[in-house]
Amino acid sequence: MTTLDQRLDNERTNALNFLSTAADADAVEALRVAVLGRNGSLTALLRELPSVPADERPAAGRLANEVRGEVEGAIQARLDELHSAAMEDLLAADALDMTDPGRPVRIGHLHPIMTVERDFREIFHSFGFEVFEGPEIETEWWNFEALNIAPDHPSRDLWDTLYVAEPGSVEAGEPRPAEDGTILRTHTSPAQIRAMQALTPPIRVITPGRCYRNDAVDASHNFEFFQVEGLVVDRDTSLADLKGMLEEFARALYGEGTRTRFRPGYYPFTEPSVAFDIGCLVCGGPGCPACGRSGWMTILGAGMVHPVVLRAGGLDPDEFQGYAFGMGLDRITLLRHGIPDLRLLMGADLRFLEQFNGGR
Ligand code: DAH
Repeated sequence: MTTLDQRLDNERTNALNFLSTAADADAVEALRVAVLGRNGSLTALLRELPSVPADERPAAGRLANEVRGEVEGAIQARLDELHSAAMEDLLAADALDMTDPGRPVRIGHLHPIMTVERDFREIFHSFGFEVFEGPEIETEWWNFEALNIAPDHPSRDLWDTLYVAEPGSVEAGEPRPAEDGTILRTHTSPAQIRAMQALTPPIRVITPGRCYRNDAVDASHNFEFFQVEGLVVDRDTSLADLKGMLEEFARALYGEGTRTRFRPGYYPFTEPSVAFDIGCLVCGGPGCPACGRSGWMTILGAGMVHPVVLRAGGLDPDEFQGYAFGMGLDRITLLRHGIPDLRLLMGADLRFLEQFNGGR
């Protein structure tokens, strides 16, 4: 064996030894550069071949090629090994245990006010009403003027309405209502106007939704509350239709034996206007603190749509008449569950709300 043969053999032994323990692809690459790279140790030996005596050169050349082939093969084999080991680790770490019991998903439920609203939707749906929703941010025109509420009407007072501030006026330390009259709607009635403008009679809609007032919060008042508005417009509607429909509604909601009565009322947007009462849900008649000892509870206001309102809705009062009604959902919800304080409904206290998860 020539010394070159000997050194080639050593080179092979060292490289294969190193590769058999190389811990990762970086170590393998470092070896490749050190052995096979331009300045690598095996490359240096190959460069010596031309100076080997001519008769020994073929054998030395064969051995050199053999060693290079072996080292290259061992490098690839070690890389493959490392790769599949890494893959196995990954699979082991990611393993899915199919016998692991599932984690329960928390399923929410409707807020008790929404359950009442759904009941209303269902009842009115069965009467042929569709749902038409209006925006919570309105302007004074939609919320008041279009509904025949004059600028000097008490509900136009700053006290009742939450006004959106004129841009910049708050920052300037002088908050004032927006010049374009933007407000938070104080009732769902503006949706009547929107429904009349959007739909073609005959119209039968309810417009449920959230309303806002600048009210001091106490057990029976809140700055946000829910209403359901109803509107029917056709060529031939009457107060008798309104009366029959509301009586049916009260029976659908509270049962066949429900007592009802109509009283004269006043709303700027209806003429004539009525208040609709049902027999007290707490005492059933004789009178108690909940009904002011009258035996009756007023659940909604209603009436025949005022001609001014029909015109604001783009309809000719000589051709069409209609009736409308509006009621609050919050108090009905309190009565349904015997809840003593409105603030509980909006308090976002899960210990309270979770009592109502028997509903839909
Ligand atoms: N918008 C009235 C309120 O907030 C309720 C109401 C009364 C609506 C009579 C109506 C109606 O549509 O005809 O107090």
